[in-house]
Amino acid sequence: MSKILVNSSGPLHGEVCISGAKNSVLPLLAATILTDQTCVIEDVPDLVDVNVMKNMLVNYGSEIDDSEPGVIRAQMKEVSCCEGDAELVQEMRASVFTMGPMLARHGKVIMPLPGGCTIGKRPIDLHLKGFRALGAEVLEDKENERVVVSVGPDGIKGDAIYLDFPSVGATENIMMAATLAEGTTIIENAAKEPEIIDLANLLNKMGARIKYAGTDMIRIEGVKKLSGCIHAVIPDRIETGTFMLAAAITRGDILIKNALPGHVRPIIAKLKECNVSVDLLPEGIYVDARNEDLIATDIKTLPYPGFPTDIQSPFMAFLTTVKGKSIVRETVFENRFMHVVELNRMGADISIQNREAVVPGGKTLKGARVRATDLRAGAAMVLAGLVATGTTEISEIYHIERGYENFVQKFKGLGADIMKIEHD
Ligand code: EPZ
Repeated sequence: MSKILVNSSGPLHGEVCISGAKNSVLPLLAATILTDQTCVIEDVPDLVDVNVMKNMLVNYGSEIDDSEPGVIRAQMKEVSCCEGDAELVQEMRASVFTMGPMLARHGKVIMPLPGGCTIGKRPIDLHLKGFRALGAEVLEDKENERVVVSVGPDGIKGDAIYLDFPSVGATENIMMAATLAEGTTIIENAAKEPEIIDLANLLNKMGARIKYAGTDMIRIEGVKKLSGCIHAVIPDRIETGTFMLAAAITRGDILIKNALPGHVRPIIAKLKECNVSVDLLPEGIYVDARNEDLIATDIKTLPYPGFPTDIQSPFMAFLTTVKGKSIVRETVFENRFMHVVELNRMGADISIQNREAVVPGGKTLKGARVRATDLRAGAAMVLAGLVATGTTEISEIYHIERGYENFVQKFKGLGADIMKIEHD
């Protein structure tokens, strides 16, 4: 069981280069199922979750060439299996993003139901609602904890679908399924995240006819066939926000390269409310928190373009060190405060009422043994460890390695006193 040790590191300084976005590369890889030609995906981050998705595709019959670093060539000449691998699905719930492409390409998919995780139940009812609207039969086999989705011989029929919640995954799954439908599909109350636009751009390069991705109404005109393409993954806005907060919490200054400011506007706005200086330079986003009189602010997570839920825990870690009380509201997931217990082990003294956390602020955190309770909470614990007195030992760091490329190395490059240890 490996762990991360973090010692009090003083202000971080230097520059860091952002990798390709985890939450974009996963649906992009799933989309390669839609054609029998080769798709070349570039700027692919080296992540555990990317390896799981590659294995999901191979399980369905795809040929994967990942011999060139940062590049994946995927070709699904034909589908040889239409059942998702249960172990892989349990390892990564984003495996369900292969359902839409499999339904469109093969007409049938059997998917073990993904477990919930520490941040919530995370049902897939909206995904299934979309598939039903497209004419699919959905059989929920509760006994075997799996769902069987299939369409008749005349395939998928376009239709209008209203999403009760602007679910990122449901929007992506339905959009991919609709590319090969007969007729036009409209997704109402669609998610507007940048990853949706990145996926639509890839699909349109493959010959799909998608309009208005990035708005709350996406229009997909079905086509007969899709072809291969070459596409580079957008930079990871959540990794960008994480390193912006690394500068803020350590009162340092960091130049964040290969970042898209337009994808992190809520984080820039909130850090500026705290008196952190953020400048958009030609070389990248420059965050300078060396000014000591930072002030507290409240945050409320919302679907994009609101404040991203994935940055809630890293931002909370920062707020524990800033003078003044702040309220953190989590509106996207029902259980995304598991990191509060861990921060309180370090002396943060945070209290929770329903989906609100009250952060008293102004604390000097103390090093402690803590857990990474989810991917982003793990990052939050590293940030807290950078400024805590003594040593912070973080366990369950496999969460972190699922979604951050070269995480420890990137922090070391900024002057952090951090190391990964193999712990039996
Ligand atoms: C994506 O998850 C991201 N993962 C998450 O990032 C991110 O937090 C989330 O979007 C919100 O931005 C990937 O893209 C791989 P949702 P997803 O469907 O698609 C409810 C990270 O740390 N819901 O938008 O699963 C759901 O329970 C991860 O990188 C339904 O009720 O998120 C949740 O409360 C964590 N029914 C809310 O919607 C459904 O059918 C948002 O979920 C689907 C979702």
